[in-house]
Amino acid sequence: MNITIKVGTAEKEPAEVVVFYLYEDAKTLCESLARADKALNNIVSELIREKRFVAKSNKTIILPTYGKIRAKRIMLVGMGKKKDVTPDKIRQAAGTTATTLRDMGICGGASMMDSIDIPQPAGEWYQAYSEGVLLALYQYRKYKTIPPEDQQEFKALTLLVSGEGEPGIVRESVTHGQIIADAVSFARDLINTPSRDKTPGILADIARKMSREVGIQCKIVSLPEIKKLGMGGLLGVAQGSAQPPKFIILEYNAHAKNQDTVVFVGKGITFDSGGICLKQAKDMDIMKSDMSGGAAVMGAMKAISRMKFPRHVVGLIPCAENMPGGSAIKPGDIITFYSGKTAEVANTDAEGRLILADALAYAEKYKPAAVIDLATLTGSCVVALGTVVTGMLGNSEELKKRVKSAGEKTWERVWELPLWEEYQEQIKSDIADIKNVGGPYAGAITAACFLSRFTEKYPWVHLDIAGTSWCEKNNAYAQKGASGVGVRLLVQLIRNWDRFSEVK
Ligand code: BES
Ligand code: MN
Ligand code: ZN
Repeated sequence: MNITIKVGTAEKEPAEVVVFYLYEDAKTLCESLARADKALNNIVSELIREKRFVAKSNKTIILPTYGKIRAKRIMLVGMGKKKDVTPDKIRQAAGTTATTLRDMGICGGASMMDSIDIPQPAGEWYQAYSEGVLLALYQYRKYKTIPPEDQQEFKALTLLVSGEGEPGIVRESVTHGQIIADAVSFARDLINTPSRDKTPGILADIARKMSREVGIQCKIVSLPEIKKLGMGGLLGVAQGSAQPPKFIILEYNAHAKNQDTVVFVGKGITFDSGGICLKQAKDMDIMKSDMSGGAAVMGAMKAISRMKFPRHVVGLIPCAENMPGGSAIKPGDIITFYSGKTAEVANTDAEGRLILADALAYAEKYKPAAVIDLATLTGSCVVALGTVVTGMLGNSEELKKRVKSAGEKTWERVWELPLWEEYQEQIKSDIADIKNVGGPYAGAITAACFLSRFTEKYPWVHLDIAGTSWCEKNNAYAQKGASGVGVRLLVQLIRNWDRFSEVK
């Protein structure tokens, strides 16, 4: 998919379709649309006057032009009320534009950007626009045997801009949007891949290949070394599977150690059957997505490296398959983690916290200024917050603020749950330091309590993405399946790291 930028006007553009954006509460048509409207015998103003087109968010209409202007058709896309417009509304409108045209079998078009009336500074908005187009067009088709000639593809979009000074900013922002959409698509591909084709070993190979491509360091820690390190959580979870675990370590800008180091940790369970505490069959297939946190970290590292941010960033991804094999860990077993602490495994389906415990304790060696972990950790978080927002818990007000702000900027929003002392009671064990479940109440919180025992030495935020990592149905810029949540948020967090005090 190609996005090009061009200075030009709508009537003169020889496109299959020219797209205009309209606000529900606008009193008049914008200049470029007014000109096209006039050439088209006022069809647009008539439609609006007769309320046959109301510019609510993501509503569209396509009209033929019968040769009255150079484009074959025009499309109108509703934006809702002008006062409610946000970069995410633009992302959605762009996504709706792209998929609507694709589904009509149209393979290219031009968007009249001045019809959006983008506020200054424009960069963020253009970036959101190109993200929306590219993310919406993402499809996971690897295992579909559609002959190429039957595949409908939207191939090229021209952004028509009027201003002379604009193309520079626009070009840079569109490039950023492309890098980010590529990283999100990379994460989505990993998450949508069936577990048998992304075992911990395969994931490690993919991480190595990606690292080589974008020039970051990649170290894969394999079974003998995982044993030597004493990562009992990762070993314990993996021992019921025929697939050996891997611990992926990605490092960007390793030389810049004189400044703040940020560590990302991503849960990399390539399939979560529940282990001996086996899950029910219904929807178990979705548990191939239990490495969404790991995928988000890999995607974010890819984008951060390509965008060349001046920061030392580390990505840690413990990978294992949670299976009920003959040598699987059993309820009642006790494991000893990398940090030396012990835990009673009360439920083998609470495996995420076990592998994260080792990775979070390992993160200490980087003396990080911040550690952010992402994990599809608890069904309880989905019960509490649904699929709209990611759960956030942590031990640093300052870091929580940073994450919240990055969430709002990217519309990958987070909502805080309390990590109060009182909840720690629930994970007390009779025979080990802690146990891995905290009873029926406040499951997302007690899971974070468990993690908090391994993050005492640095500012830390935990993001529970169990509800946000998977889309149950198509939306404006994501098809059903993996959302790739977390990639955009992490990139934004790093992008704003030094400027945070000014921009929050
Ligand atoms: N991977 C699951 C959590 C999950 C549930 C993610 C639904 C996405 C959608 C996690 O490993 C798990 O099984 N958690 C258990 C914990 C319980 C046994 C304490 C849960 O939430 O039921
Ligand atoms: Mn589980
Ligand atoms: Zn899990």
